[in-house]
Amino acid sequence: MPVLSGSSGGGIAESLAPILGMEHIRLESRRFPDGEGYVRIPLDAIDALRSEVVILVSNTYPDTGIMQTILLLGAINDIRRGDVSNVKDNSERERNLEDVGPGIILAIPYFGYERQDKRFSMGEVISAELIGNMLANYCDGFVILDLHAPEVLQKIGTPVEFVSSMSEIAETLSNQVQPDFILSPDKGAISRASEVARIIGCEFSYLEKTRVDAHTIQHTPKDLDVSGKVVAIVDDMISTGGTICRASDALRNQGALEVYAACTHGLFTGGALSRLSRHVDGVYTTDSLPNPRANVSAALAISRGVSELIGLFDEKE
Ligand code: R5P
Repeated sequence: MPVLSGSSGGGIAESLAPILGMEHIRLESRRFPDGEGYVRIPLDAIDALRSEVVILVSNTYPDTGIMQTILLLGAINDIRRGDVSNVKDNSERERNLEDVGPGIILAIPYFGYERQDKRFSMGEVISAELIGNMLANYCDGFVILDLHAPEVLQKIGTPVEFVSSMSEIAETLSNQVQPDFILSPDKGAISRASEVARIIGCEFSYLEKTRVDAHTIQHTPKDLDVSGKVVAIVDDMISTGGTICRASDALRNQGALEVYAACTHGLFTGGALSRLSRHVDGVYTTDSLPNPRANVSAALAISRGVSELIGLFDEKE
């Protein structure tokens, strides 16, 4: 079984393949001068793609990632269905390929648009759901890492394995920071952050957050027993860093000795890393997105989801 990747997800695919005992095949991808994407399955990969279940690791972020994921899935589907119609190269036209049936797993380390999971006002689209439905047309199962709100994909007619890197984040924090206290910076991160606290075996609490706009957030004041303690703030993602910086201020004001930030998805938009460096003592993220603080591998969590899905396919046979 091959683990496939285009230009995003290559690093994770490379780590994932040996965990699953599979081979990693990098598919061709490049960009035309006008910015449009191009993908191709190398000829020497065609037999492997048609052998058994295949796993494509691809991010739907930034927007070019969505397009590339669709093009890669389209190319993989054509090859698995044996559709070589209209091939210009005469030597390839003669190949008679049978349809090998379903077996495409799409593993998405970072699902772009995941925070657009509700219709916040009339006339909006639920972007995360739309993208999920679109991708579901081209694959037979998803593995998605730390999706902000899994409920958004509950109506998707394709199996989805939601996986989390919180156990690997807990292990890294435990080895490198030894926190006394884990804080969830908002209610949405409670289940993830409390899981980290449970694994480490330390205290836990959460803050209530109000987002005023994309760059401004406020926390409801709360007494936290953090005086003299090492605290790690755990969230699903860090974008502008505003949530973490405000939570860190609250912790420092209450006497926290050291404050660390940890999350699965390090987006770090618009100078977030330098902002964070003024508020926290260290930042830990997975490599779901390439970033200079990627110090936890997302491959293990994804491998757990892939194994579950492959099990589902086996049961159906
Ligand atoms: C939102 O609820 C998420 O869980 C994160 O807390 C949020 O996206 C972080 O964004 P920022 O770093 O811009 O505050």
